[in-house]
Amino acid sequence: MEANFIYLDNSATTKPSDQVLESFTKASAQYFGNASSIHGIGMDADRLLRKSREQAASLLQVSPNEIVFTSGGTEGNNIAIKGIALEHQNRGKHIITSTIEHPSVLEACQGLEALGFDVTYLDVDESGLVDVSSVKAAMRDDTILVSIMHVNNEIGSVQPIKQIGEIVANYPKAFFHVDHVQGFGKLPLNLDECHIDLCTISGHKIHGLKGTGILFVKHNVKLFSLAHGGGQERKIRSGTENVAGIVALVKAMRLALESQDEVNAKLTSLKHILMEQLQSTEGIVINTPEQSAPHIINFSAPGLKPEVVIHALEEFGIYISTKSACSSKSADESAVLIACGKERAVAISGLRVSMSKETTREEIEYFSQQLQEVTEKLREVMR
Ligand SMILES: Cc1ncc(COP(=O)(O)O)c(C=O)c1O
Repeated sequence: MEANFIYLDNSATTKPSDQVLESFTKASAQYFGNASSIHGIGMDADRLLRKSREQAASLLQVSPNEIVFTSGGTEGNNIAIKGIALEHQNRGKHIITSTIEHPSVLEACQGLEALGFDVTYLDVDESGLVDVSSVKAAMRDDTILVSIMHVNNEIGSVQPIKQIGEIVANYPKAFFHVDHVQGFGKLPLNLDECHIDLCTISGHKIHGLKGTGILFVKHNVKLFSLAHGGGQERKIRSGTENVAGIVALVKAMRLALESQDEVNAKLTSLKHILMEQLQSTEGIVINTPEQSAPHIINFSAPGLKPEVVIHALEEFGIYISTKSACSSKSADESAVLIACGKERAVAISGLRVSMSKETTREEIEYFSQQLQEVTEKLREVMR
């Protein structure tokens, strides 16, 4: 094994790629000007910013004026959801989302509920899927926003975005927002074909840098700004642009999309190997559905505390994670696993392996072996 540790927490964050770091360093040193300054140094930065915007747009097959650079997924989701709600509240105050969204969506919606908005949280089935007919049934005359994630960050379920988009498109007052943070570079998503009005992407999940991201905002969509100021980014997100971070983000996006098919095939095969090994490991319950994103595998070790398993694996240089603690009613329970109807013993013992293009078969095999030993030992101690 090349590295002396095995990093399997890529849904939390990825290691920036060398090419991304190089682009960042170069742009930071050579184009340090403020893109809004009218002198030559500022104009150089502005030119680079424009070029990056054009490249990002071409990668997403949209127009440059539909790209809003942000600081990441949390900001993108907040700008989209609150921006639509506050701007269009006189058309209606109803929002539809699902129970398994990322906290940056769920809590933005809860914040809006406190301001008098009405939010429908759609249930998911045991595979973590939203039923398309439930979206249709929830749509109302006063619905202004439907926000559904592409790939779930805890269990990897992939929502039927195209079918949902087709439904929302029949309601001219409603906008469709997709949190694509876990899907970008892993699974294709055609923004136009899926009738998406707003789409969130985060740089650090795709071997880019933390503090970078994009919110796609369709040209005809108006948002209330959450950050007033210098009027940058179509006045949606004021603030001096992070030009070097943006250059690095675009590089990461290009690299991710260029290798998407290859990486998808590799990860799918690793996922199958891991799922088979987990199936034959005593005391392990797999939570990730068979049909799911290629990089995320969620499983439980009922009876064992996930933190204890994580730290025991860390002794062997293996890094995995537990569910995201946020948004659960009970501190030790995964809201996503509960929403999928898992029993409490399973929902409190969830663990997540998330792979990247760098993950190898040897790493996965070593992990499975160590997981088996660690869980056996921990169970013995408890006897
Ligand atoms: C599905 C999803 N949405 C949004 C976010 C937030 O992204 P960021 O960390 O860039 O704020 C995450 C991060 O884990 C995520 O997994």
